[in-house]
Amino acid sequence: MRTPLVVGNWKMHGSCAMARELCDGIVAARSQYDGVDVGVCPPYVLLPLVAETLRGSGVRWGAQDVSEQVSGAYTGEVSAAMLKEFGAELVIIGHSERRAMYGDTDALTVLKLRQAQASGLLPILCVGETLEERKADRTEQVVARQLDALLQQADAAALLERLVLAYEPVWAIGTGETATPAQAQAVHAFIRGRIGGSAAGALRILYGGSVKPGNASELFAMPDIDGGLIGGAALKSEDFVAICAAARGRLATA
Ligand code: 13P
Repeated sequence: MRTPLVVGNWKMHGSCAMARELCDGIVAARSQYDGVDVGVCPPYVLLPLVAETLRGSGVRWGAQDVSEQVSGAYTGEVSAAMLKEFGAELVIIGHSERRAMYGDTDALTVLKLRQAQASGLLPILCVGETLEERKADRTEQVVARQLDALLQQADAAALLERLVLAYEPVWAIGTGETATPAQAQAVHAFIRGRIGGSAAGALRILYGGSVKPGNASELFAMPDIDGGLIGGAALKSEDFVAICAAARGRLATA
């Protein structure tokens, strides 16, 4: 049984007032997404407020990135141990925006993932192809390369035990253009197949890329789509709650 999971990636959006209002709205609507794992990943500086607002609600929270280092002279970085000590549960790793703009390579994402796991955080590892790569029919090749950085580790089986994957086609992020349920399902099935074994059956694979209240149900109806990683629509509590509620549709079959 894979409990559906919906996580909001706020990216570099928000303010104290917005975070409080958004979290209050998510908590108030709890009964609408009963049984679904729900989380939010705000910018670092909003974490204290988010933690306080969500306390006791069961809604998880975490960060959008983490350092690959344990501690030391790394100006601007935040360690996994710091996040864990503060009470975070989740951390997004290898988001395409980090890969494209901040030099996060496949190898670096594995180091970050190791730090997250060593500190007891649940990493959400993102993979996905660009439009150019899709047009060149290289989607599977790109996703396989991103995954293999992890699968080729000697202790891959252990790393896969405490991990969530997110398939986010870069061309669908923030563009309003969603992968069709069939397109997304095909890549999710490919990912599960590449992982293989018992780990594959237990692993949650989220879809991300212009998920909205209007398309969430059809995406979450696909057998290998276990929930969503939500950008723009996670910034309005009614929209985010509606998407979380749509994931309840999986509970009967989960
Ligand atoms: P959008 O939902 O805004 O397309 O963003 C998706 C995303 O990048 C989540 O990590």
